[in-house]
Amino acid sequence: VKSLPAIDVSKLKITLAKELKPLPELGPLTFGNVMSDHMLVLSYDPFTGWSDPEIRPYGGLNIEPASSCFQYSTNLFEGMKAYLGPDGKPRLFRPDMNMARMSRSATRAALPNFDGEALQILIKKLVAVDQRWIPSEPGYSLYVRPTMIGTRVGFGVAASQHAVLVVLLSPSGPYFPKSLATPRRRAWTTLLASATSIRAWPGGTGEYKLALNYTPCFAPQKDAEKQGYSQILWLLPVETPKGKQWKVTECGQMNFWIVLKRDDDGIELVTPILDGTILPGVTRDSLLQLGAQHNKGSPLPGLSPDLQITAREDTFYMSDILRWEQEGRLLEAFGSGTAAILAGVWKVGWEGRDIIFGTTMDDLLKGGEEDVNGLGPIGKALYERIVAIQLGKVEGHPWSVPC
Ligand code: COI
Repeated sequence: VKSLPAIDVSKLKITLAKELKPLPELGPLTFGNVMSDHMLVLSYDPFTGWSDPEIRPYGGLNIEPASSCFQYSTNLFEGMKAYLGPDGKPRLFRPDMNMARMSRSATRAALPNFDGEALQILIKKLVAVDQRWIPSEPGYSLYVRPTMIGTRVGFGVAASQHAVLVVLLSPSGPYFPKSLATPRRRAWTTLLASATSIRAWPGGTGEYKLALNYTPCFAPQKDAEKQGYSQILWLLPVETPKGKQWKVTECGQMNFWIVLKRDDDGIELVTPILDGTILPGVTRDSLLQLGAQHNKGSPLPGLSPDLQITAREDTFYMSDILRWEQEGRLLEAFGSGTAAILAGVWKVGWEGRDIIFGTTMDDLLKGGEEDVNGLGPIGKALYERIVAIQLGKVEGHPWSVPC
């Protein structure tokens, strides 16, 4: 069997825009609403393999309306961020993780696969072409959105062997802008725990970054907003030896974290285990490692190196959260994802009442203008550490990859 052409980086064709767009004002810039000057485009054909890659001005694609992506949601994407390092050069954060996950998503959606290393090289070239779009202000970055869609034409209910792969760049500000913040202008997130809508289930696609995982969440999200909450805490009903329980999975479009006080006054950082319903977040993986390194020579900024911190993945239920609340152990909760990085959770609505996070609430409220995404002290320390790495401020850190 003759193997089909793989992505050939050496064949990259670059067509620059004749006119460059003005850069947006950063103040009102939110998440993902402005596109840069250029995009990367590739296509796959089952007879000829991957096309020559092309960087060309951002603009429309010519796709037939009977294409698989419109009819059967054969769409997947990734989210990564580019930052300017102290040397003024662009850097990506752990891009290998995104390439590996995108490849797994392609396999799950039965879309053509690709060489992640070749795609990573092309993404770096695209970011270099549009380098002037990387904001250097704190809290801003260039969001990179690799996207793959099935373009087989026809209504036959089957995999699409034709695909288009595009990579888009969008200068982005805070995912949860301060203007949306709740009390005292703090950018808290409030969650409504849902017992009616389920985001992902065993054997489903929750661990892949398929666009179809996001669509069913929009209507419940709107309902939550009507009830005064900003996002949903996604739960999964499970039968346990103790009867039916509500397993905690994700929040909004993010991985969910709880910070607990231990009996010995140490801190426990807990996030749900990757059981197939949880998106294996790059930020999630990074926080598990950074938390575990606190007592191993890389203390988190602003926290005493003597504070004992354990970071672990575990299964926990709403009943556990209620018990921890009664025991006074619930210190903080936050969501993590590429877009928001870390977003503090103030309260979770469940069975008609609110569970408030933060026995250190007074400390947190004192934060005032120094507020970082509504985070408590532990979340803030993790945020500052991961952002320092993303910005290339931790010299030689393997997670920050120059373009
Ligand atoms: C992220 O947190 O980066 C996400 O994936 C959420 C959304 C932008 C899709």
